[in-house]
Amino acid sequence: MNAFGRASRFVANLIIETASVFRPLLEPARYKGAYGGRGSGKSHFFAEMMIEDHMLTKGMRSICIREVQKSLKESAKRLLEDKLEKFGLGEANGFKVFREVIQTPGDGLISFQGMQDHTADSVKSLEGYDRAWVEEAQSFSARSLELLRPTIRKEGSQLWFTWNPNRPDDPVDKMLRGPLCPADAIVVQANWNTNPWFPSVLEAERQDSQAKDADRYGHIWEGEYARVFEGAYFASHLEAAEREGRIGDVAADPLLSLRAYWDIGGTSSKSDATAIWVVQFVGDAIRVLDYYEAVGQPFDAHVNWVRSNGYDKAEMILPHDGKTHDKVYKVTPQSFLRDAGLNVRTMPNQGAGAAMRRVEAVRRIMPSVRFNRDTTAGGRDALAWYHEKRDAVRNIGLGPDHDWSSHGADAFGAVCVDFIDRPDQAAWGKPIRRKFKGVA
Ligand SMILES: Nc1ncnc2c1ncn2[C@@H]1O[C@H](COP(=O)(O)OP(=O)(O)OP(=O)(O)O)[C@@H](O)[C@H]1O
Ligand SMILES: [Mg+2]
Repeated sequence: MNAFGRASRFVANLIIETASVFRPLLEPARYKGAYGGRGSGKSHFFAEMMIEDHMLTKGMRSICIREVQKSLKESAKRLLEDKLEKFGLGEANGFKVFREVIQTPGDGLISFQGMQDHTADSVKSLEGYDRAWVEEAQSFSARSLELLRPTIRKEGSQLWFTWNPNRPDDPVDKMLRGPLCPADAIVVQANWNTNPWFPSVLEAERQDSQAKDADRYGHIWEGEYARVFEGAYFASHLEAAEREGRIGDVAADPLLSLRAYWDIGGTSSKSDATAIWVVQFVGDAIRVLDYYEAVGQPFDAHVNWVRSNGYDKAEMILPHDGKTHDKVYKVTPQSFLRDAGLNVRTMPNQGAGAAMRRVEAVRRIMPSVRFNRDTTAGGRDALAWYHEKRDAVRNIGLGPDHDWSSHGADAFGAVCVDFIDRPDQAAWGKPIRRKFKGVA
C-alpha cells in the first residue's frame, strides 16, 4: 500500500478536536482569516488544518510565510512537527521532516519563507502553490500582499491569515475587516476565552496584565487595536467612559431632535474618509447613537446610509468646507444634501487653531458623553487613536497627526464645539462682568 493509502485510511480514524470558534473556517473559501489576542489558538488551528489538507490531497504544495523570517525557528515548522507527532503521522503516512521543508503525501511539500526575501521575480516560484499561510499577518506589508495575492492563483488555492490586530489601517485589516473584504473570505475572531486549551501559565499572565498593565491589556489579550498612549488626545477619556459605564445600550429619545455631524472626504478610493456621527443633545449631556465611515464612495452612498437608518429628519451639520465645490460633482456637499431634501447647516469657519479648539472641546465635554456600544465602535477606535504628531528631534508637538483617525475625530470635535456653542448655552464661557461699588 502506498503512503497516501495509509494516510487516507488514517484520516478516517483521526479525530481532530477543534475549538468551535474556528468551525466556519473548515468550509472552502479562497481567503481564510483568524484574528484575536494572545493565546487564542490561531496558530494551532491553522497548523492542524494545514496537515489535514495535505493528508486529504496528494501532492499539495504550501508555504508558511511571514513578512520577515530570519531563521526557521521563527516559522510554524516546529508547530507542524509537533502536530504530526501528536497525530502519529510519519514516513509511513507520507510525511517526512527535512531541515528546511516538510515532505507530505504524494510528493507534496510545506515550505517556510519570509516575504522580504522575495522579489517580484522570485515570488513567481510560488505560482503552483495551493496554500499560503501568513502568520503574524499584522506585520505583512502592502507590498507583500500585492505580490502574494495574484501569485497564489492555482485552481482551488487558498490564502490564510492569522494575526493579532494592531491598527485598522494595517494592510491585512483593511483587506479582511474593511469594506473591501473579498466576497470569498471567511474571517473569525478568536480570543483566549474561546480557546478550550488556554494554558494555565498564560491565564496567570493574562490576569497579571489585566491588573497591572490595563493600558495595553485590551490590545494584547482581547485582540483590540493598539492605542497610542503618548500623545493620544482622548484615549484616557474613552477609558473613563468605559469604566464609568457610559458605553452601553444608548437609544434615541423620540422627543429630541437628531443631529448628524459630518466630516467630508473625497470620492476616490485614495481620498480621505467621510465620517458621520449621529447624536442627540440631552440637557447637559450628549447621547452618541451611531457612527458611519466610508472611503471613496459617491455622495449618494452617504445619503443612502442616512435614509436607511432613519436619520432623514436629522439636522445635517457640515464643517465649513461643506460650502466648497466638490471637484467631481461641481456641486457643494451642502447643496447636494439640500437637493436630497435634507435639513442642512454649515458650521462657521473656526480659523487658525480650529483643530486644537476641537481637541479642547472634546476633552471638556467627554465626561458628559454616552456612546451606544454596537454602532459606534469604529468611531471610538478613531477617537482612541487620534494623536499628536511629534518632532522627535526637537521634542515638540506638531498638532494632530493626519491619518485614518482624523476624520472621525474631526467630526466628533464638531459635535463638542457645537454643544458648547449651542444658543441656549450662550452664557457659557462668556466673561462675567462685575460692577464695583465703592464705600465713600
Ligand atoms: N488545538 C489545540 N490543541 C491543543 N492545545 C491547543 C490547541 N489550540 C491551542 N492550544 C493551546 O493554547 C495555546 C495558545 O494557542 P496558539 O499558540 O495557537 O495561540 P495564538 O492565537 O496563535 O497565540 P499568539 O497570538 O500568542 O500567537 C497553545 O500554546 C496551546 O497550549
Ligand atoms: Mg500564534
